[in-house]
Amino acid sequence: MKLELARTAPLEVGADLLVVFAADQNSNKDKNTKPDLALLTSDDRVKRAASHVLDGGEFKAKPNETLLLHAPAELKVTRLLVVGLGASSKAKIHDLRKAAGTAVRFAKARGWRSLAVLPPEAFDAAESARAIAEGAVVADFDSDTYRTDRKDSTIASLTVLVSGGKQEEAAKSLREGEIVAESQNFARTLINEPSNRMTPTILGQRAAEMASEFGLKCEVHGAEKLRELKMGAFLGVAQGSDEPPALIVMRYEPEDAPAEPVLGLVGKGITFDSGGLSLKPADSMEKMKYDMAGGASMLAAMRAIAQLKPKVRVLCVVCATENMVSGKAQKPGDVQIAMSGKSIEVLNTDAEGRLVLADGLFYARQLGATHLINAATLTGAVAIALGQVNAGVFSNDEPTYQRFVQALEKSGEKFWRLPVDEEYRDQIVSSIADIRNTGLTRYGGATNAAMFLREFVDETPWVHLDIAGMAWLDADKPWIARGPSGISVRSIVEWVRGFGV
Ligand code: BES
Ligand code: ZN
Ligand code: ZN
Repeated sequence: MKLELARTAPLEVGADLLVVFAADQNSNKDKNTKPDLALLTSDDRVKRAASHVLDGGEFKAKPNETLLLHAPAELKVTRLLVVGLGASSKAKIHDLRKAAGTAVRFAKARGWRSLAVLPPEAFDAAESARAIAEGAVVADFDSDTYRTDRKDSTIASLTVLVSGGKQEEAAKSLREGEIVAESQNFARTLINEPSNRMTPTILGQRAAEMASEFGLKCEVHGAEKLRELKMGAFLGVAQGSDEPPALIVMRYEPEDAPAEPVLGLVGKGITFDSGGLSLKPADSMEKMKYDMAGGASMLAAMRAIAQLKPKVRVLCVVCATENMVSGKAQKPGDVQIAMSGKSIEVLNTDAEGRLVLADGLFYARQLGATHLINAATLTGAVAIALGQVNAGVFSNDEPTYQRFVQALEKSGEKFWRLPVDEEYRDQIVSSIADIRNTGLTRYGGATNAAMFLREFVDETPWVHLDIAGMAWLDADKPWIARGPSGISVRSIVEWVRGFGV
């Protein structure tokens, strides 16, 4: 998609579709009063084109509601799409991101290839440009990669119409939005691949290719290096698979950045999670090809960081392996010694994400990370707790967590904090080893997993993202296709950028 900013007046636009936004200006909370719909533009011709149908009342400007007008009088374009933003008193820049995505998916479905978007005047021009770019690029992704009758329905061009000052600032924001959203789509492309086409080795190759394209240092290590590093927890998971594991290490080291902080991005890269001998039921086991979504998010964040160039050092560790059954697989009750020296009783081989992350987090600290963030499709329990609206976030350090909250304000992603309090530690005490890899009870499963990770983080400020419930969308939404969501990429990028200013 070619993204551009233009000063063109709406009257002159020659795209397949002109997109404008509408909101309900009625601040009266009484539900019985009529909505007061207004187009969020002062352009008289656009307003006149839509006034009749807006007065008609069938369009309510609900969030992502669409209204298509043909042959709008006085305008050059042949189609005008009005997208709802909801109540104007509540509409935020995050609603605009989704609404722009809705417009893109509306156009794609109809084979229209060029769009012009008139941002709402009430919003800051630069923020709007960025939100529109993000929403549009994310919306342009489809996950039906292997359909032989697949038609290319990607959008060829999208022009954001900016009339007033702030052109330069808006152009910069547009580019930033494009970089971040393309990186989110990079993660989605990796996550979408089935496990036979995304083995740990292939993930390592894709990471190395991306790193060389964007000037990042990258090393991909095999089992021998894991043995050398004594990564017993990671190796315990990998030993049951015929596919060799990959330890991906990437570095972003700008010369103008101070020696510290060093941010450590750690990702779970299970390219297929059968559960191991604690085998998962057949029903929806196929979903476990996306168990590398956390690792893909970290690689994608590095891709964006390499282009946005914040003045902060970043390193990334992705632990990639399959979790399989075989005569060589680890067995329930086995004890593994993690790289940190801690002994782990593996009660359930399906709680493998925390095992690979134990060594990944410890290794990132050893490589110099002063602050850690990890992302993982770690527990079904997080989805039980939060549903498919919020992902889970855990942290052992208030300032570091507050930086993440600020990142969420920029990214618009939804995360809800869950506890990692000392009182939960009883849950992971083992009678034969230092810790066990499952909780003593079924309760608080997402926290039990976080408590396990905390053992390997120690005092290092840390943010843990459990994205299990949010990494895969089962159905299309108006602004995003079903399949991998790419959740966490934008927030991780913003968290990193927050350290670089
Ligand atoms: N990969 C799964 C978690 C998961 C579940 C991801 C649903 C995406 C959707 C993880 O490795 C797992 O199996 N966790 C177990 C832990 C349990 C055995 C303590 C779980 O959540 O059931
Ligand atoms: Zn598992
Ligand atoms: Zn898993």
